[in-house]
Amino acid sequence: LVKNLKQVVQIVDDNTTEFLRGEQQMNNIKILNSSSSTLAILVDSDGKFSFIGEFKDLQKHLEAESVDLGSIETMDSNGGIAIPGFVDGHSHPVFAGDRVHEFAMKLAGATYMEVQQAGGGIMFTTNKTREASEEELRRDFEEVAKKMLQSGTTTLEAKSGYGLNVDAELKMLRVLSTVTPSIPLEISATFCGAHAVPKGSTESEQTRMICEELIPKIEEEQRNGHLKNVENIDVFCEKGVFEVESRYKDYKDYKLQKNFFCSKKILERGQKAGMAVNFHAEELKYIGGVEMGAKIGARAMSHLEEISEEGIRGMSQSGSVAVLLPSTAFILRLTPPPARKLIENGVIVALGSDFNPNAYCLAMPMIMHFACVTMKLSMPEALTAATLNSAHSIGRGKTHGAIAKGRNADFLILSANSWEHIIYRIAAHQDVIQHVVKNGNIV
Ligand code: NIG
Ligand code: FE
Repeated sequence: LVKNLKQVVQIVDDNTTEFLRGEQQMNNIKILNSSSSTLAILVDSDGKFSFIGEFKDLQKHLEAESVDLGSIETMDSNGGIAIPGFVDGHSHPVFAGDRVHEFAMKLAGATYMEVQQAGGGIMFTTNKTREASEEELRRDFEEVAKKMLQSGTTTLEAKSGYGLNVDAELKMLRVLSTVTPSIPLEISATFCGAHAVPKGSTESEQTRMICEELIPKIEEEQRNGHLKNVENIDVFCEKGVFEVESRYKDYKDYKLQKNFFCSKKILERGQKAGMAVNFHAEELKYIGGVEMGAKIGARAMSHLEEISEEGIRGMSQSGSVAVLLPSTAFILRLTPPPARKLIENGVIVALGSDFNPNAYCLAMPMIMHFACVTMKLSMPEALTAATLNSAHSIGRGKTHGAIAKGRNADFLILSANSWEHIIYRIAAHQDVIQHVVKNGNIV
């Protein structure tokens, strides 16, 4: 039981609403206020919300059920504010090596692809991650996961993609699959073996390896219980990385397999293995990845800086979630995606940190601040995007991302005049967040 709350930002108050879009995302979030701080939240023994409202109503309810209030573990929030725990819709949190030198290169004017071509970027991290032991990766990730929890993230979408071969990709997925017993951060893991084409390989060969070796191996490891949460499939669908469809650039590639499609083929192979499509699209160059994603029923697509009008209409119709990553656009000085246009056209907009060695920010309060300033989201829109809508982007829109009866009790207790302080204050969220609660347990 948490009592003496002055504000509860529920987002929605039921467990049938899986997302908010358009007008709803703009101004339909549900907030309870009490100037005398008389609100309470009760969590049941399964870690689900069982009551949200006025304390006196709870008292009546408990008396009727003849439950002794004294027997319930109680926290006095002293006029605190409850908001849902953040769901980070996009991250690359398992990696080895340090890329701070690349930040200097970018500040001096190098683009993301120029750094990559100079031997940096994803391949640099891949080489370091291949060399690192599983234990080292796990230890580093635990530190990251703790900081994410302290920053209010209670559920995380997390990608592999710095292994790029069978052994190293499985090593990363095992880290993502086994860290939860010690750290209460819930993880929806994403297989991203198509994050880059390793040196010496080709786009076609990497596609073949993923479809014919890696995904079958993941299926086997999930069957025998060595992996348990590989829920999504991702591709870096980008010009010069993985094209939407094969270019048949050389005869050898073409001979590898007839009707060869790159991003699309990999995503559909993942779907066949039961994974939801959730991929990087239209970040640096427009190539029509979004149109393809909408057609194959992608659950989510990220970045979208270069999305087309047709792509926006496609996403609105398919109900694919737009996972926007404001820290990445910020550090790469990209024109941000057209967030207002996406919302006005009824696309479901979510947020992710994209935490990775290129964009080193894991704090969702900072991400919401960036989203409001650089993408013109309102604060309620940003909060919805970082909770309910991002939960929906990983298939948890009915169970996570809001403070409502029956949902997972993942929430934060803030100490501030109003909930907006969690977005307004720059790099000071630690002063605002008093407690982080995951499944009803204080972290
Ligand atoms: O989402 N764009 C592709 N992938 C990551 C960056 C990964 C890296 O640079 O290590 C992203 O920004
Ligand atoms: Fe990413």
